[in-house]
Amino acid sequence: MEYRSQKIASWYFTIALLLFVLQVMMGLWLISNYVFTIPQEIVNVFPFATARAMHTNLLVLWMLLGFMGGTYYIVPEETGCDIWSPRLAWLQLIVLVATGVIALAGFAAGWTKGRPLLEIPPPLNYLVVAGALIFLFNVGMTMFKARRWTVIQGVLLGGLVFLALLYLAGIPFYRNEVIDWYYWWWVIHLWVEGAWELVTGAIMAFILMRLTGVDRQVVEKWLYVEIGLFMFTGIAGTGHHYYWIGAPTYWLWVGGIFSALEPLPILLMVIDTMTYVRHRKVQIANPHTWTLAVGCAVFHLIGAGVWGFAHTLPQINYYTHGSQVTVSHGHMAFFGAYALLNITVFYFAMPRLKGIEVYKPTLGKIGFWTMSSAMMLMGITFGIAGVLQSYLERVLGMGYMTAQSYMHLWMAVTLVLGVCFFAGVVITVIDLLFPKPAVKPGGA
Ligand code: HEM
Ligand code: HEM
Ligand SMILES: [Fe+2]
Repeated sequence: MEYRSQKIASWYFTIALLLFVLQVMMGLWLISNYVFTIPQEIVNVFPFATARAMHTNLLVLWMLLGFMGGTYYIVPEETGCDIWSPRLAWLQLIVLVATGVIALAGFAAGWTKGRPLLEIPPPLNYLVVAGALIFLFNVGMTMFKARRWTVIQGVLLGGLVFLALLYLAGIPFYRNEVIDWYYWWWVIHLWVEGAWELVTGAIMAFILMRLTGVDRQVVEKWLYVEIGLFMFTGIAGTGHHYYWIGAPTYWLWVGGIFSALEPLPILLMVIDTMTYVRHRKVQIANPHTWTLAVGCAVFHLIGAGVWGFAHTLPQINYYTHGSQVTVSHGHMAFFGAYALLNITVFYFAMPRLKGIEVYKPTLGKIGFWTMSSAMMLMGITFGIAGVLQSYLERVLGMGYMTAQSYMHLWMAVTLVLGVCFFAGVVITVIDLLFPKPAVKPGGA
């Protein structure tokens, strides 16, 4: 650690990790609802929708806290200056975590806006906005004061501002249901297939440059190409969510064509990650961080690119829309792109924040391979359940609950895999919270 103010990042990371554990526990509860008949008394006080809101909102919260912590870690190193106000960074953390806790308690009490993934109701939305404004102001001031601009910083700040602005589109309640969903997708789709991709590009570029010692020009060249393509395909690609909500039919064409191109920038990300190895200048001190970065790029391509492409054309989406196929893709993409990105950042930064330059990778490796294999298999089992569901409900016209009985086996297998995934998460989190220095060759 070169700058004292970077220390704040470790609090963001620690809280993010604890929320990750909680999120996955909720996932286990959700899948149990598909496998077992839950007694009605329990359903009455803790319905599926409440648990689902907790699962997905915890997901968004921990990932955003991870991005923010990552930014507070990276910006001092990029600008060569301490964070403008560590106190504001603390205040922001407190505001966001308090909002999260109130929101979760609120969901349990039935206080929700009802829109998936963005269930947080209006008065709390403004607290989120306040937290985001403090963050952007603090990061912006740090960069402004330093007056040393880099492309990585620019893309990072641009992505974060875009992310915050999009959140505003989801706050009002629109009386017309079509309009309401229309703007909901501005947040959900343009986040994960727009703003978050920019943030990912910048963070990955920084980490890969640091790990491999490759020239900044090489990293920045790729960043321009990726960002250009992401904006081009991702924005018009929003149309793949407008097929069946009552929007004009031209979206079938626009959404189909542009979203089918979305895997391209993701593929570029994998290629440029590999390019860094060829241009590599230094021995990679922590090979496990490198494994994570490559794992993230590859899983990102599979989960978002391949799994996304599989159901993005209207001819296919007509059958799979809103089925377990969507759930399969949601898990693979979020895990591959953003959970693994965060975990890469945590492994890059957390040992160093504790003064450990080279960490012992044993537990980290077990955690990574357990999580990744379990999630890959969960993607497949959710996927099989989804294809069955699409066929039984949409081709044969079977009722929802009758179709569920045929999917039951695959949901049960998903539960078993979920337990394995959870074990991987616990191992990873323990390893990150208590990293050990590597034993130097030759003893000591
Ligand atoms: C990392 C990037 C991505 C993430 C995190 C992600 C995540 C998600 C999630 C969570 C949903 C479900 C939303 C809901 O209905 O509740 C979804 C839906 C969808 N995604 Fe992605 N996605 C990503 C990239 C992509 C890409 C690149 C494509 C296309 C190539 C794609 C195609 C779709 C489609 C077509 C749907 C709608 C499914 C339906 O009609 O039910 N996604 N995505
Ligand atoms: C033990 C591990 C997990 C299990 C068993 C699990 C299970 C589930 C279940 C049953 C649902 C509800 C699906 C439905 O409404 O029919 C769900 C939703 C969701 N989960 Fe998980 N989950 C787990 C971990 C994760 C992780 C690690 C992530 C992200 C990195 C994640 C992201 C999501 C998302 C985005 C949704 C909403 C999907 C959609 O809108 O289609 N889950 N999960
Ligand atoms: Fe999308």
